[in-house]
Amino acid sequence: MKLLVVGSGGREHALAWKLAQSPRVQMVFVAPGNGGTALEPGLQNVPLTNIKSLAEFAARENVYLTVVGPEAPLAAGIVDDFRARGLRIFGPAKAAAQLESSKDFAKRFMVRHAIPTARYETFTDPDAAVKYIEEQGAPIVVKADGLAAGKGVVVAQSVAEATAAVRMMLGDKHFGEAGARVVIEECLEGEEASFIVMCDGAHVLALATSQDHKRLKDGDEGPNTGGMGAYSPAPVVTPKVHARVMREIILPTVAGMAKDGLPYTGFLYAGLMIDKQGNAKTLEFNCRMGDPETQPIILRLKSDLLELLEHAVAGTLDTIEAQWDRRCALGVVIAASGYPESPRKGDLIEGLDKGTDDTHVFHAATRLEGKTVLTDGGRVLCVTALGDSVRMAHKRAYELAAPIRFPGMQLRHDIGHRAMRDMSGASVKAR
Ligand code: AMP
Ligand code: GLY
Repeated sequence: MKLLVVGSGGREHALAWKLAQSPRVQMVFVAPGNGGTALEPGLQNVPLTNIKSLAEFAARENVYLTVVGPEAPLAAGIVDDFRARGLRIFGPAKAAAQLESSKDFAKRFMVRHAIPTARYETFTDPDAAVKYIEEQGAPIVVKADGLAAGKGVVVAQSVAEATAAVRMMLGDKHFGEAGARVVIEECLEGEEASFIVMCDGAHVLALATSQDHKRLKDGDEGPNTGGMGAYSPAPVVTPKVHARVMREIILPTVAGMAKDGLPYTGFLYAGLMIDKQGNAKTLEFNCRMGDPETQPIILRLKSDLLELLEHAVAGTLDTIEAQWDRRCALGVVIAASGYPESPRKGDLIEGLDKGTDDTHVFHAATRLEGKTVLTDGGRVLCVTALGDSVRMAHKRAYELAAPIRFPGMQLRHDIGHRAMRDMSGASVKAR
């Protein structure tokens, strides 16, 4: 059978690579894909991004199932369009994708269904927003309401910084419509984790937990990025925390969406803040898998991903379990010169390795020109490896990254530092 993965990042490379290993799959199309998916056996890039063209392609090629990687086509209604044509697709409908595409929608939903999250208010008037910030004091968090490619959140350490963020979003319309409303919320403390599940509208299958590294530089310094590396599992999600997150956040979310008439199908990503007592609050929902979290998660997945997706589409996720490699996986992002502000494109990448069963170089912003691979955007590669401990996975991923070279490349050297510190060699109990 033929499958279609929509997107062009490292997440989509990992999903398509895994799907191509399924014994029943002949071909995985990736639209539009990247230099890595172009080189991968069993995958074929298709230069399409427009929803109508993708649907026509899926119908023409008799694609058995389409999986959507990024949020933009989901927020634009790709799932509704495919379903209307009778095409099988895994992802949330446009109305359900508002859990990510509108922070205000997500916050109102969480309050309505008593799902733990930071206290907040929503504003369209800059003066009212500034007054609220002055009353609350700092630190405080200012978020553009709509999709802003991970750049619409300012964790302000002072009232002046928060006020400037409000003026930028509401006054100067820096994010256009996405910033026409802002959510201002309490600043939470603790450790973050990514909790990603598959939903079929009624049931949930939890994937392995993970942790992302958002800042550009070692020691969590520098600007926020889309993610400079990730590993799985996240030790902060102990079995007890896992059970609480399912009970207090994930299951009420899926039940709440169904009750509100917007049954949630697709990957659901809850960004969590977990405090020292193990209380988890939801920082955000994403209506997709994480990038780069997907790359280590997929490397640990032993089950056939196609089978899991088939259960998700059939509404029978309650009847299966996913099998995970007991080892840890860790992915190091190699980013372009100038990332995140203005990444340079077109640099020649050398030293790429094919990987082994336990390691893989997933491509993100790359393109193939003849036989050479060139950089084509911000996050270029995610070098991912399994290891018996986070420390081993870290060592192996950096060994795989060592020969890779391109001008101006940027990478962090401390991916997994929290888990290495917490564990000091002890075995991993987290999922
Ligand atoms: P979001 O896009 O909402 O996940 O926000 C991006 C990042 O901002 C998160 O991963 C956190 O690091 C940080 N952040 C968001 N909301 C809060 C909050 N209420 N308290 C502390 N940090 C936050
Ligand atoms: N790595 C963060 C995200 O995918 O949103």
